Amino acid sequence: MKKTTILVAGSLNMDFMMRVEHLAQSGETVLSPRYTLSPGGKGANQAVACARAGGTVAMLGAVGRDVYGESLRSSLHSSGVDTQYLLEVTDHTGAAFIGVAADGENSILVASGANLALHPQHLPDLSRVSHLLLQLESPMVSVLSYAKRAHQEGIPVILNAAPARPLEPGLLGCVHTLIMNEGELEHLTQTSLEAPGTALTVLAKARALVKQGPRVVIVTLGSQGCIAYTAEGTTLAVPSLPVEVVDTTGAGDTFVGILVAYLARGVGLAQALHAANAGAALACTRAGAQPSMPSLLEIEAFLK
Ligand code: RIB
Repeated sequence: MKKTTILVAGSLNMDFMMRVEHLAQSGETVLSPRYTLSPGGKGANQAVACARAGGTVAMLGAVGRDVYGESLRSSLHSSGVDTQYLLEVTDHTGAAFIGVAADGENSILVASGANLALHPQHLPDLSRVSHLLLQLESPMVSVLSYAKRAHQEGIPVILNAAPARPLEPGLLGCVHTLIMNEGELEHLTQTSLEAPGTALTVLAKARALVKQGPRVVIVTLGSQGCIAYTAEGTTLAVPSLPVEVVDTTGAGDTFVGILVAYLARGVGLAQALHAANAGAALACTRAGAQPSMPSLLEIEAFLK
């Protein structure tokens, strides 16, 4: 049987977005004139970005039986994501409360709700699955169990280690491609690698992570582009593309989804990184997570 489906297992959130002059410090209240609602959640965002970039995608996740759950399902559906593995549970649909500052940077609080109902037994049959894409907004026990099953079946596991959380022992050994931003890299290497007082460079940290299992470690560097390090010892650095930043929410998810769509159709790592970088830059020029994600045509046109 031909394996053609990219399975994304992860979170779905309704994003409550507020534009603010600056992000709130601890103990501070910051006012915003209004909020807007838009579909989000790291898992759903990556599924949408991947499908819009041409991937054949199915989403495994959980929403509540409420109006937000319906709207998240329909957002996936309208981008061509297969929603047959989307569970409906009694808890409320996940929600994210996002402040976006004038420079486009954000700060996010997530109420996980229904996302916590995603359990190890919910992983479907993987016979048609070519790649499994995971993030860390789901219960860690499920992330580990899904990664182990896919790894045992020879399916490449791509892990976006976001948001920053300590990893279960054994998880990195099941991961083919590990993707994170600098903050998440910092967190991961502080909790798993770094002796107190040592300041490893990004590349040295990526190299150290490759020794723990992944064949490829990719670090996104915001306005500096991204860097990848492979188990064969290759380093690839892709510079960022200059854009007018409106909102960075979902830019990392856009990067991940596009990268996997390109890799899944056999494009080489360097070219896939360029496409992902371009798509993430485009996403920064528009507001919201899923509403900002580009189509394959837009990505290709921007790359030219
Ligand atoms: O990565 C951005 C996403 O993080 C938002 O859509 C929000 O829902 C949180 O999950």
